[in-house]
Amino acid sequence: MLLALLLLGPVLAAPSRQIPVPKLAQAEQDDGFASKPLSFTRDGTFQISIFEDLHFGENAWDTWGPQQDINSVAVINKVLDRESPGLVVLNGDLITGENTFLENSTLYLDQIVQPLVERRLTWASTYGNHDHSFNISGEGILERERRWPNARTQNMVPGRDAGVSNYYLPVYAAECNEMNCAPELLLWFFDSRGGFYFQERHPDGSQVGQPDWVGVSVVNWFEQTNQQFVAKHGRIIPSLAFVHIPTEASQALQVENGQDSVNRNYQPGINDDYPVAQQAQGWCADGRNDGTCAYGGQDVPFMQAIVSTPGLMAVFSGHDHGATWCYKWDHLVPGMTVAGTGVNLCFGQHSGYGGYGNWIRGSRQVSVDLRTLRDNWEAQTWIRLESGDVVGSVSLNATYGNDWYPATPNDKTFCPTWSFQKKINPVRRRI
Ligand SMILES: *[C@@H]1O[C@H](CO)[C@@H](O)[C@H](O)[C@H]1NC(C)=O
Ligand SMILES: *[C@@H]1O[C@H](CO)[C@@H](O)[C@H](O)[C@H]1NC(C)=O
Ligand SMILES: *[C@@H]1O[C@H](CO)[C@@H](O)[C@H](O)[C@H]1NC(C)=O
Repeated sequence: MLLALLLLGPVLAAPSRQIPVPKLAQAEQDDGFASKPLSFTRDGTFQISIFEDLHFGENAWDTWGPQQDINSVAVINKVLDRESPGLVVLNGDLITGENTFLENSTLYLDQIVQPLVERRLTWASTYGNHDHSFNISGEGILERERRWPNARTQNMVPGRDAGVSNYYLPVYAAECNEMNCAPELLLWFFDSRGGFYFQERHPDGSQVGQPDWVGVSVVNWFEQTNQQFVAKHGRIIPSLAFVHIPTEASQALQVENGQDSVNRNYQPGINDDYPVAQQAQGWCADGRNDGTCAYGGQDVPFMQAIVSTPGLMAVFSGHDHGATWCYKWDHLVPGMTVAGTGVNLCFGQHSGYGGYGNWIRGSRQVSVDLRTLRDNWEAQTWIRLESGDVVGSVSLNATYGNDWYPATPNDKTFCPTWSFQKKINPVRRRI
């Protein structure tokens, strides 16, 4: 009998495919709690949990699509049962826009944030190429996010060429507030755009592609705003950055000395996307994206800004689901025009059951400690897997890249209902 129940369990559970969505009224009782600035804990630490490439909303008309989203919510819950972040970052490709319907495309956001609202966590998003599509826009997702008082996502840079999720968040020491203290940490969020412009078509009916790099107006805003912080407080404020699509530097470092450039013990992580896809992929330098160019180099201004921002400890990206390593960019890779000055370029872990690849789902954690932050610009990072295990735990300190760490196992997880044959509208990564 017990065995029969166990076997029947999944079958009985099957008809209920709706993810319960929290009531907005409940969250509104916490009115404005995300308007309070982020702060370190009393013991001087600040932790971030990054979920990326959740890819909600695939094939709503098949059973496997909604099942994927149920599994993805479970990933978020399993990670947050074990980690206690001060902020959750949703680092792009929240929703697979090209699978969605105009009338309800942004509603998936409510499913994604359910585990965060229940835990009274606040979050901040960057948008990915799949969040910009014919039936979904960054503006639309932002509007949906802002219904929740937990949301910290903003749009600080106007203009069609900027994208949407460009903003910063200051983090203060526990005993301070915005009025009388300098921030101890700055978090920068960038929109690497890509995908397609919302509801736009060329005269021939085809959709209008959006450039897939951080725009120049955003780079200028970043540099000017950071300089204002330095001038106002008379010191460099350490920082972390989040952007969905990595820059050319990640690919250049990955292939510099062939397949073994990313070393399993010095840059522990999965390294199956070889080479990784980067900003400005698929665009020509002259602005064409007609499939004739591999990479147009338009992310050079953004890379220059990254390497000339002292105190920027690490840039975290997603997009490449089969890459989960961190690399300290501290030299000029032959063929590049921008030389690294020690910033760590990190991938996270594919968190969603949507999107390509079956690498085990999880979430990169980042933690900074005031005792090592001010002088050494150090961060700790590790990946919490859906299984509960921790892999790839490293210190992004001065010697990262020379310190030996255990290799990360290349584990896979499969969605029970996922069927390749049924996937009539495959989601390709190289769009
Ligand atoms: C959006 O509408 C489609 C078509 O009616 C439906 O299958 C899907 O479940 C809806 N999605 C959401 C999040 O409401
Ligand atoms: C966009 O949404 C509309 C309305 O639901 C739907 O008919 C159409 O197929 C969708 N278009 C694309 C390109 O996904
Ligand atoms: C960096 O961290 C590693 C691992 O904890 C440690 O072995 C190494 O000594 C640290 N380097 C510095 C400069 O603190």
